[in-house]
Amino acid sequence: MSGTSLDGIDLVIADLADAVPRLIAARTVAIPGPLRSDLLTLCQPGADHLDLFGRCDIALAEVMAAGLHELLAEASIEAERIIAIGSHGQTVRHQPSGRHPFTLQIGDPNVLAERTGITVVADFRRRDMAAGGQGAPLVPAFHAALFTAAEDRVIVNIGGMANITILPAGQPGAAGGFDTGPGNVLLDAWAQRELGQPLDAGGQWAGQARPDPTLFEALWADPYFERPAPKSTGREHFHLGWLQARLHRPVAPAVVQATLTELTARSIAHGITETAGAKPKAVLVCGGGRHNHLLMERLAAALPEASLGTTDELGLDGDWVEAVAFAWLAKQRLAMLPGNLPAVTGAAGPRVLGAIYPGRTW
Ligand SMILES: Nc1ncnc2c1ncn2[C@@H]1O[C@H](COP(=O)(O)OP(=O)(O)OP(=O)(O)O)[C@@H](O)[C@H]1O
Ligand SMILES: [Mg+2]
Repeated sequence: MSGTSLDGIDLVIADLADAVPRLIAARTVAIPGPLRSDLLTLCQPGADHLDLFGRCDIALAEVMAAGLHELLAEASIEAERIIAIGSHGQTVRHQPSGRHPFTLQIGDPNVLAERTGITVVADFRRRDMAAGGQGAPLVPAFHAALFTAAEDRVIVNIGGMANITILPAGQPGAAGGFDTGPGNVLLDAWAQRELGQPLDAGGQWAGQARPDPTLFEALWADPYFERPAPKSTGREHFHLGWLQARLHRPVAPAVVQATLTELTARSIAHGITETAGAKPKAVLVCGGGRHNHLLMERLAAALPEASLGTTDELGLDGDWVEAVAFAWLAKQRLAMLPGNLPAVTGAAGPRVLGAIYPGRTW
């Protein structure tokens, strides 16, 4: 799994034999600087980059395969023991609307299967889109299978974008969810620009200032936040240029960061209570954003009636939930079971997601 933050490739080895997945080994592999900057180029709509696209598709798969070999060695597990790799790849474009909606993930599964000898399941999103869905978010089906409980819960994944899964008590089939908007992507972009750092660790920098109400309103006016579900979004919508187009007067950099943190927290809370109309008892966060203490504090403040925690409390480390979800989706594919929730993506019905690239067959 390599998410919109492009902060690294998350690799996990998971045992899915029981209802609760067992995490056997995990690591994040760095994306080499030049490849990361090429991937960022591909993420911005613009000139035709077909050559770059083709090269990155292979280069990223090579990095993934090398990382997998290291992870297997570290965990002393033979490749033959792995049933399949579920590879999400890296999204370089997500355009769920328009006459020809499409979504594009790269990291060639052929290379991954060839280098590891393990069967690869990839291309999870496009079948859902072909069936009229958003192709995203896909993790809610996994959240529903794993985290549905006797109380109303909401799972929030704060990655580059933020998405929520609404889990009504005791009814995994009734789960809902959508992308609420930006997660860490704007926070990272502004910290990179102003501090030269990849992220605002712990939200410390933002915590030195208070949000600017006028800037907040300008950001909040984006119609995405009021749009009904199903909806999904990506870097092509929420990026540094989106922020700069709304910064009409000088605002101190730390104040901007505080305002962005507030925007992320409030848009997640708004998605839960207004767009989804949910009143959960418990809200459980996974993804890198839960390490941002200020963001967690602001989210708790925006959801005064819910208890805020993390999926770690439910037995699955929040740094690896997304990656385990794609291992689970691969298992669904091999069993010919659906991977999408039509109520979430808007697809015409449940669909078996992903294509299979056989491993060593000789
Ligand atoms: N200590 C920290 N303080 C603040 N933010 C953090 C910290 N650790 C991680 N993050 C944030 O989490 C991000 C990475 O989170 P994650 O890997 O869940 O996102 P992602 O790869 O974009 O996944 P997704 O597919 O959900 O978009 C980082 O880019 C950073 O913004
Ligand atoms: Mg990540």
